[in-house]
Amino acid sequence: MVSDIRSNLSHRNPRVTVVGAGSVGNALAKRLLDTHLADVILIDVVAGRPQGIALDLTQAGAVEGHTRQILGTNNYDDTANSDVIVVTAGLPRKPGMTRDDLVMVNGPIVIETVRQAIARSPKARLIIVTNPLDVMTYLAWQGSGLPHQQVMGMAGVLDSARFRTFIAMELKVPVADVSALVLGGHGDLMVPLPNHATVSGIPLAELLDEATIQRLVQRTQQGGAEIVNLLKTGGAHYAPGASVYAMVEAILGDRHRILPAAAYLTGEYQLHDLFIGVPCKIGAQGVESVLEVSLDAGQKAALWRSAESVQQQVKRAMTTLMSPAALAS
Ligand code: 2OP
Repeated sequence: MVSDIRSNLSHRNPRVTVVGAGSVGNALAKRLLDTHLADVILIDVVAGRPQGIALDLTQAGAVEGHTRQILGTNNYDDTANSDVIVVTAGLPRKPGMTRDDLVMVNGPIVIETVRQAIARSPKARLIIVTNPLDVMTYLAWQGSGLPHQQVMGMAGVLDSARFRTFIAMELKVPVADVSALVLGGHGDLMVPLPNHATVSGIPLAELLDEATIQRLVQRTQQGGAEIVNLLKTGGAHYAPGASVYAMVEAILGDRHRILPAAAYLTGEYQLHDLFIGVPCKIGAQGVESVLEVSLDAGQKAALWRSAESVQQQVKRAMTTLMSPAALAS
């Protein structure tokens, strides 16, 4: 019997439930422990998997000096009273697949995991990572019954980190000096914004020619696929794990950070009733506000194209997965 730490899980420490003990969930769990940010409840459907990962991370803590605890479990009761719930559960795509190909397999997983977790942590803020991200975030919101401000999707921090990385690599400068923003859905139609990118305050267009910028934009749009094709099985996980960590830290620290995230729109960018990547102010309550940045005509059209694609996917998913018959099955 693997001894676990239910008894000494403190109710004072912030508590983060990570649903899915896959590569992204494990990367996030380790980051949360290495930074002493929160106690972690790692839950998965596979018996033994979260328990094994938790025991391994606890033993890593003997070296790293962790001051927070991690519990691995297959029982949602152990996730009760979480401050933040991060859903990474679901299948990753394979080479040649788009994220949208995962809707019908990951949709039911996200809906069920969210229902189980939120039933035990009704005050939690919910961060979705599972793909296709924008559709899954909408389904999660529907399944959770939470105010939309408490629900968000992780993608923009990751996509913007990729854009920043490619710019830094091209200019041979530290990525810390690069600021960049990517809006829109987490897919091929995402909208990197070169005219909002700067290197130490210098506009990108003053440092790179247009052809180079467009090459970096396209590499960003294909950033996830590039890693999937290299790995052959699975996908990126360290950068996604770090990206969702930034959002969790902004919530638990009530940091009011401006981060790109999939948030629910109620007219911003002339878009309604969908979750899609936009700049958000994120703090203890979740999404405190959505910020509208200036977009040129081409960028507006690109954002609306991305939104149209997400809305079509949401409509199909809601009809198939959230119908009374589907929910009763
Ligand atoms: C990515 O872009 C997994 O969707 C994630 O790598």
